[in-house]
Amino acid sequence: MLPFDKYPEWRDRSQAQQPNYEDIAELKKVTDELRLRPPLVFAREVDQLQKLLALTSEGHGFVLTGGDCAETFAGSTAEQIRAKVQTLLQMAVVMSYGASVPVVKIGRIAGQYAKPRSQDMEKRNGIELPSYRGDAVNGHDFTPESRKHDPWRLLEAYQRSATSLNLIRAFTKGGYADLRQLHSWNRGFTDNPQYARYEQLANEIGRALNFMECVGADFDAMSSVDFYSAHESLLLEYEDAMTRIDSQSGNLYDTSAHYLWVGERTRNIDGAHVAQCARIANPIGVKLGPNATFSEIAALAQILNPENIPGRLSLITRMGAKNIAQVLPSLARRVTESGINVVWICDPMHGNTLTSSTGLKTRNFGDILEEVRLFFDSLHSVGAIPGGLHVELTGDDVTEVLGGSANLDEAGLNLRYETLVDPRLNHQQSLELAFLVAEILEESR
Ligand code: PEP
Ligand code: CO
Repeated sequence: MLPFDKYPEWRDRSQAQQPNYEDIAELKKVTDELRLRPPLVFAREVDQLQKLLALTSEGHGFVLTGGDCAETFAGSTAEQIRAKVQTLLQMAVVMSYGASVPVVKIGRIAGQYAKPRSQDMEKRNGIELPSYRGDAVNGHDFTPESRKHDPWRLLEAYQRSATSLNLIRAFTKGGYADLRQLHSWNRGFTDNPQYARYEQLANEIGRALNFMECVGADFDAMSSVDFYSAHESLLLEYEDAMTRIDSQSGNLYDTSAHYLWVGERTRNIDGAHVAQCARIANPIGVKLGPNATFSEIAALAQILNPENIPGRLSLITRMGAKNIAQVLPSLARRVTESGINVVWICDPMHGNTLTSSTGLKTRNFGDILEEVRLFFDSLHSVGAIPGGLHVELTGDDVTEVLGGSANLDEAGLNLRYETLVDPRLNHQQSLELAFLVAEILEESR
């Protein structure tokens, strides 16, 4: 890494999607306090993830990133976190069996509390108030008090992230991630006749686990897994306050999460978000919509990864099932030909959002599957390596995405529609997606 003082100061750059705080002195009180708080993640953990991503960029791993579109403070309960982590670990078991490569597990968890919005204001019944921007910024209730941007929420976001991570560390290091328990994933799932084709894979995994147990595999040693946290690097003052110099290397690390990504709306090369990410040593993702160009990618790589370190930069495509096959192959060909090191990750969610006839924001499970398939095809067609999946999911049985094995229809959306921003895959849909990816990975081995 270059010395961080060589990087542009993000405060001099344009700052898209930031809160409007009335009282800047209050914001300073909050960020001064945050600077005194302990880091949430540690430099060596971040370095470990960077190494895994470097291996992934060469085809020796596959990334699974998943979690809420927007975490809420109310949703940071033990039960909801447990269900999300369990879903991700189960998906990872299925996918690593298919791929025969390690799955790098990253949660959109413990910090995903801020959202970019296309509209600054929201209108309901003639009343206009600031849009909801995530619990780290304002409340979801449609009242002037709740929608006011409040800097003290940043401290609450830190606190909730800390307690969430504490629980996740206990779950993933304390024996909860035992493979034998995770195998219960297929209960009530493969009974569904639509899933006959997955039953064989499920049984194979079960047999492999039994075999390992019979030959005396040390399950205690395997009951700890590495699980990393991630969120969108959106709130510049928060990320800046959590950015610290690592005494060992002298590099800057954003200690709010292991992995940070820059969103489609804030990835402009002259903007503050890219400048803030350029100076930190954490692995960085950048979302790419259907209008992304090769020259943008080349410029982003130059700023974010001037030394072209493998694994440092991931490109998270979110192009939509309709667009990806037209756009991705030529981009990937040029990236590969230019020798730019990236991890290609597929976000099959954000390019496939639609509004139901009943007015709910939803997605079709079929479109999500289709985008994943086309992502693999597009990259394989030009000799590039598909490196991972980035999805919005919850461990609960919500009804937010249409389709899937339960054939959720528009009327069914109302049953348990709980998201405050984007629709998430429920537990069963998440596993269904994992099986599909396992199949594709197995075929392309
Ligand atoms: C998101 O990941 O929730 C998001 C807002 O994505 P994008 O920046 O790709 O729109
Ligand atoms: Co989203």
